[in-house]
Amino acid sequence: MDHGSMSGDAASVSAPMVHGGGVNGPTFAAGAEVDHEANGFDPTSILRDFDWGKSRRLPSGRVLREWDVVAADKEIEVAPGVFYPAWTYNGRIPGPTLRCREGELLRIRFINGSAHPHTMHFHGIHPAAMDGVPGIGAGVIEPGESTIYEFEAEPFGLHLYHCHVGPLAEHIARGLYGAFIVDPKEGRPDADEMVTVQHGYNTTFDGLGNQLYAVNGIPFHYMNRPIEIRRDELVRIYLVNTLEYDPINSFHVHGNFFDYYPTGTSLTPTEFTDTVIQGQAQRGICEMRFPKLGPFMFHAHKTEFAELGWMGMFEVLR
Ligand code: CU
Ligand code: CU
Repeated sequence: MDHGSMSGDAASVSAPMVHGGGVNGPTFAAGAEVDHEANGFDPTSILRDFDWGKSRRLPSGRVLREWDVVAADKEIEVAPGVFYPAWTYNGRIPGPTLRCREGELLRIRFINGSAHPHTMHFHGIHPAAMDGVPGIGAGVIEPGESTIYEFEAEPFGLHLYHCHVGPLAEHIARGLYGAFIVDPKEGRPDADEMVTVQHGYNTTFDGLGNQLYAVNGIPFHYMNRPIEIRRDELVRIYLVNTLEYDPINSFHVHGNFFDYYPTGTSLTPTEFTDTVIQGQAQRGICEMRFPKLGPFMFHAHKTEFAELGWMGMFEVLR
């Protein structure tokens, strides 16, 4: 090798950057994928997977909607070759996107199949005994035990649920969270709807920060599998931040702007923007149409997070 020569073939300095690193980002950004089948979930299906549970009309005329949610310990391949001992709801990170309509009676049977005590704490308006926190109502649900959380679906909007057992940061960071959508009685306009839960993985368990950042479970997933969008179609993104350890998170879309409905509790947007900032448990609905064809990035505009997994692509098709 003639390292001193200035006359080398240009091709020798533009070899494919298959190993990533440096300006190309971390090595695991190079396109390798995790084994979704072994994980038992795939962020591409999580994206448009809304779990309406089972519903029936009560004699009173009211709709009762029911779900079974099981907590389980599960090793998940969170990046190629990186296995994380997660705690999950229904075997996936994030947990199922529970969806209902304002005013319905909700009944969630929670079964703790994990080796650790857990709960389900919902955001929303409900009785104290249904709050899913230690010492109140059923309190902490021990391994092998179960409970029923029952409350009315209110207020309409985009909410979340998560475990509320201490150490709380770890119980959340291990993967025990999910989106909870309460549709307004009158509904929302037809749209291509999707849910994106922003989160991270503290793979060193030092509680100081995260080594990986993701949307719907797997870092860089939507770089490898872009989200297909139809040009001019209304797109509605239910955006939830459950990120532990870092104080803020954000979402930014390229080549477009969106209407933003914080917490989804109003039908009137508060902002027309291309970037929103969220603290933990903040969430909101983003509505947009893509007028231009082609690939458009979306990512955390906390670029540190973006380069450690929190980025993806929309592919706008005819
Ligand atoms: Cu827990
Ligand atoms: Cu919370």
